[in-house]
Amino acid sequence: MKVLVVGGGGREHALCWVINGSPLVDKLWCAPGNAGIALETECVAIGAEDVDALVNFSKENRVDLVVIGPEAPLVLGLADLLQEIGIRAFGPSAEAAVLEGSKGFMKDLCARHDIPTAAYARFTEPEPAKAFVSEMDPPIVVKADGLAAGKGVIICETVDQANAAVDDMLTGGAFGDAGAEIVIEEFMGGVEASFFALVDGENALPLASAQDHKRVGDGDTGPNTGGMGAYSPAPVVTEQITQEVMDRIILPTVAGMKAEGKPYQGVLYAGLMLTDEGPKLVEYNVRFGDPECQVLMTRLMSDLVPALVAACDGELKDFDLRWFDEAAMTVVMATQGYPGPYEKGSVIRGLENAAKIAGATIFHAGTGTNDNGEITATGGRVLSVTANANTISEAQERAYKAVDRIDWPEGFCRRDIGWRAF
Ligand code: AMP
Ligand code: GLY
Repeated sequence: MKVLVVGGGGREHALCWVINGSPLVDKLWCAPGNAGIALETECVAIGAEDVDALVNFSKENRVDLVVIGPEAPLVLGLADLLQEIGIRAFGPSAEAAVLEGSKGFMKDLCARHDIPTAAYARFTEPEPAKAFVSEMDPPIVVKADGLAAGKGVIICETVDQANAAVDDMLTGGAFGDAGAEIVIEEFMGGVEASFFALVDGENALPLASAQDHKRVGDGDTGPNTGGMGAYSPAPVVTEQITQEVMDRIILPTVAGMKAEGKPYQGVLYAGLMLTDEGPKLVEYNVRFGDPECQVLMTRLMSDLVPALVAACDGELKDFDLRWFDEAAMTVVMATQGYPGPYEKGSVIRGLENAAKIAGATIFHAGTGTNDNGEITATGGRVLSVTANANTISEAQERAYKAVDRIDWPEGFCRRDIGWRAF
């Protein structure tokens, strides 16, 4: 088989890493990839959002399967365009990607299909939004409807703050078009957890559990990021929770999307709140989490490729994936300044030495090479230093040993990834 992975982050490096190991695959490309992916896989200089060029490349090279990593090309309809010309695309259609692309759509779907989530209402005008706010008990959650790079959610401690958030989004253009419509919802207390399932339009297969740390600072403090580290398994996601989430959230979503003419295929990533009343849906993403994908891929014993093909072909029923018992942890190394502004081009040394730590695998995210052939930092999140071991605490020890062998003064990482698992 010929396979193309779309994207260039740590998630896509981990996907390429497992797909390269599949005996079914005789050629793998990654577009655009990064300097680490390029060590093992042919990278193609096409941006992940350049859907027309990706379709042309796939057609010209007779690609059999395109694995789409990030949400942006999905929302732009890359999967639809590929399917139209008979190429398998792992990832939802643009219509189904609206589960992530519109929070209001996601909430309405939950209402129509009795899926547990926070009580809410949708607004495009400030006055009715404020009238709704005045009847709520704080904290009150105000969300931009569209994609806002993970920043479109404001947890307001007072009614005044909520009114200000309403104004910022609806009249102040705080999140551009993404904030032209908003969702206001009740605050849910509880423990947050993530949940991943492969979906083929009708059937869903839960993956092993994984949890990220979204805040930039130790102790889960400071601004939100795409994720500063992750571990798997996640002890809060017990077998009982898995069953409840499948029965009450994932399967009703898959059935609802099918019944409404938007069958969902790809990986469904649910952000959950484990409340006193059971698990409730916070949000959906239509892709693998990054860096959760990195820990999941290092724990996968089965070949991923047949599972991706089965998802594309509607054949996940009775499909099984096997996982190693070993735990995995990944520590993200980012450029100083991230998630704010940062400099590009600093040189990273010591990667080979770090990879020699037992159980360590280093995935690249924002890396490139300079004229001297050295690895340089080209993004905010730059490396995903991953390690596997018998326990999460041993995996943590190994991951930080590998981190400490990396010579990159312009980089930083959190020192406490995994603390919630202990
Ligand atoms: P989202 O982008 O929808 O995942 O929201 C970002 C973060 O805001 C989540 O990870 C939660 O920590 C928090 N959050 C969102 N909605 C709620 C809610 N209704 N109740 C409590 N926390 C929430
Ligand atoms: N790690 C969170 C995300 O991928 O959205």
